Amino acid sequence: MKKETIHPAKYLTGGLEMPGDKSISHRYAMLAGLAEGVSELRHFSAAADCHSTLRCMSALGAEVKIAKNLVRVTGRGPRGLKSSWRALDAGNSGTTMRLLAGILAGQEFSSRLTGDESLQKRPMRRVIAPLREMGADIRGRDDNFAPLEIRGAKLKAIDFKMPMASAQVKSAVLLAGLFAEGETIVTEPARTRDHTELALEVFGAPVEKHGRTIRVHGLGLGNGTGKLSAKSLEVPGDLSSAVFFIAAASLLPDSNISIHNVGLNPTRTAILDLFVSMGASIQMLGLKGTQGEIIGDLAVKGASLKGGVIAGEQIPLVIDELPMLAALGPYSEEGIEIRDAAELRVKESDRIAALAENLRRMGATVQERPDGLKVEGRRAGKLRGAEIEPRGDHRIAMAFAVAALGAEGLTVIRDSECARVSFPDFYKELERLAER
Ligand code: S3P
Repeated sequence: MKKETIHPAKYLTGGLEMPGDKSISHRYAMLAGLAEGVSELRHFSAAADCHSTLRCMSALGAEVKIAKNLVRVTGRGPRGLKSSWRALDAGNSGTTMRLLAGILAGQEFSSRLTGDESLQKRPMRRVIAPLREMGADIRGRDDNFAPLEIRGAKLKAIDFKMPMASAQVKSAVLLAGLFAEGETIVTEPARTRDHTELALEVFGAPVEKHGRTIRVHGLGLGNGTGKLSAKSLEVPGDLSSAVFFIAAASLLPDSNISIHNVGLNPTRTAILDLFVSMGASIQMLGLKGTQGEIIGDLAVKGASLKGGVIAGEQIPLVIDELPMLAALGPYSEEGIEIRDAAELRVKESDRIAALAENLRRMGATVQERPDGLKVEGRRAGKLRGAEIEPRGDHRIAMAFAVAALGAEGLTVIRDSECARVSFPDFYKELERLAER
């Protein structure tokens, strides 16, 4: 297993680009596979997760050609996918498994959907239940875990009031809705990322949004055109990846970096508001719209972070950013407290436990709770370098590589390659920008 050694840094300086947004890349790849004709997806994510989605779409009959970050997908039309003789492998990617389950539920064939050890431990009942209500026959281990056997069926539309705020669950039902008879309605209890709704519209699906309710017509009926059209699209840079660099620049006072072409969709930018409310210096520049999404540059300078409490409706909007925020706790004045985030326990790892363990290894004072954690601020003492065990979780590895920049002494990230799941060049880019 590869290890990465992180030395403390004085500051970060320079400019960089992020890989294409992971959430958007998954959705474009799936919809391009369901569209008729050749879609061109530029700046497609380099993340291993999105390449799992491409492999699944290819196994289902879409033609996928990859030239660096340009991906061409020849779609087979909404009724043109074919069954895969081997199990579809979502790797480490919850988004691949949950969204694809929605698509497979509406096919006229059966599929087996599996993933790595971590993904096989993550709850799938949240998508199995509504897809079953729509008429699909889905079986999983203990009725909750992959591998999933999905016997597609003629689906019926449902009016689904989501019991939890999850973009993946919302998306699974909306994608299944494309294959249902009638109008599928999904209402979310709190706002979550809306990339599926935007992408459906771009590819020509009949979708409408009012507040927290989204309606999609089955492609066979209603006012739908009956098909999706191939598109030429640019994927914005991944804001969730940019957050590691925003955090690194913020924690080292003399830093000055710019991050170009980042996705700034309002359902993702709560993290920037949160950083700014804690005292970070972040400027958004050159905003422009691109097929429903927004792209811009971020200029970030070092600052003194106040810290604070993150809870309630804020949680789903910053869910992927919580590991980085928690790991910044010891560098903040008041510390960081995270509440109402039990969902973190069923991400790529039990992130609450992984954060508490590794923060303690670096000498932080941490209280672990069922739904979050409280990390003491600067007064509790400076962090010291340590061996970090990321538990195979990309965001834990990256969060501690950043925390290591401000610590005393060297930090070693074990199994550092797990960062490839979302950001293959992460350590190289961090090293390039760090001044010592
Ligand atoms: C994602 C939704 C979120 C997020 C994940 C990506 C998506 O998961 O944590 O990394 O692309 O829809 P949940 O919907 O389960 O909260």
